[in-house]
Amino acid sequence: MDKLLIRGPCQLDGEIRISGSKNSGLPILAASLLSDGVVKIRNLPHLHDITTMIELLNCLGVELLIDERLGVEIEANTITDYTAPYNLVKTMRASILVLGPMLAHYGKARVSFPGGCAIGSRPVDLHLRGLEALGATVNVDGGYIEATSEGRLKGAHIFMDKVTVGGTENIMMAATLAEGQTIIENAAKEPEIVDLSHCLVAMGAKIQGIGTDKLIIDGVESLAGCEYQVMSDRIEAGTFLVAAAATRGRIKVKDIDPSSLESVLAKLEEAGATLELGEDWISLDMKGRKPKAVDIRTAPYPGFPTDMQAQFTAMNSVADGVGTVVETIFENRLIQVHEMNRMEITAIR
Ligand code: UD1
Repeated sequence: MDKLLIRGPCQLDGEIRISGSKNSGLPILAASLLSDGVVKIRNLPHLHDITTMIELLNCLGVELLIDERLGVEIEANTITDYTAPYNLVKTMRASILVLGPMLAHYGKARVSFPGGCAIGSRPVDLHLRGLEALGATVNVDGGYIEATSEGRLKGAHIFMDKVTVGGTENIMMAATLAEGQTIIENAAKEPEIVDLSHCLVAMGAKIQGIGTDKLIIDGVESLAGCEYQVMSDRIEAGTFLVAAAATRGRIKVKDIDPSSLESVLAKLEEAGATLELGEDWISLDMKGRKPKAVDIRTAPYPGFPTDMQAQFTAMNSVADGVGTVVETIFENRLIQVHEMNRMEITAIR
């Protein structure tokens, strides 16, 4: 879809079920490469990035069975190729997540270097440094990252210079099959990392400190198959809540754990929303009132998520008062503001 036509104004009013999490589904699909058994994944969302990751596994020769609800059964031992090619990596940066698992399980991996993207340069230096600390030899040649390991990777004590979600995931996945213990300090602790950790544990991995910034992984010789249900998408849920708040409406989002959205819900209350929380649902009611602008500053979890920044910027633009938005994660992630300013100019003229 390259065009959306939206006729406003209207107040959102309704209920919606939240899909599975993209940022959890992607690393979990990559983690299947660690297993010697069949990994069955449920609740994957119907999104282009998910089908690209499935296509990537397929192009490595991995056998996959997909049912009509995007439940996927993966048997990674059928792998025949160890290269994630440029044409797939360029459309989805999360392809880098196959690097750690392939290297740890098969001793070799070749992944096209992901370039920058619209929101920032997005280097992968910390992924590579972490894998080197685990004993891998890493070279970059002809635009490809080539990583190899003589025998099993070796556990190591790794301090992450920056909190990185993908970096933590890649190193944690690789460490599950390393010889000995790996400690990752200053690890990211996003709910999606917790979800990935639970899936790895279901495969037989030994991980302590799940949900904290210190992950302790005792490597095992092999990982088995498992069945795993991907968590719901907190960013999708947050986006619907903000859309209802911006339009002075009301909404109930279902199949979502409210505890994954604490910083976002606090800001919605500050904006004037009345919230009710259940075990797996959130309802929001603006009672027909305009939202109040809120100050936000993005930060790693449990701080305010950068993936919710653009939505709150949009809400602030139709709110009462002035809100300051500070983006600290990606250098170019206020890119949407230029387009929003053009909308205002059109309206005034
Ligand atoms: C993931 C999410 C993305 C979210 C982001 C931050 C997925 C598939 N995507 O992206 O939706 O916006 O977390 O919550 O889960 N960095 C380095 N060196 C590295 C790695 C990262 O300098 O080796 C920097 C990045 O440029 C960025 C910051 O660290 O400034 C955080 O990036 P990171 O957490 O790694 O984001 P992703 O995993 O790419």
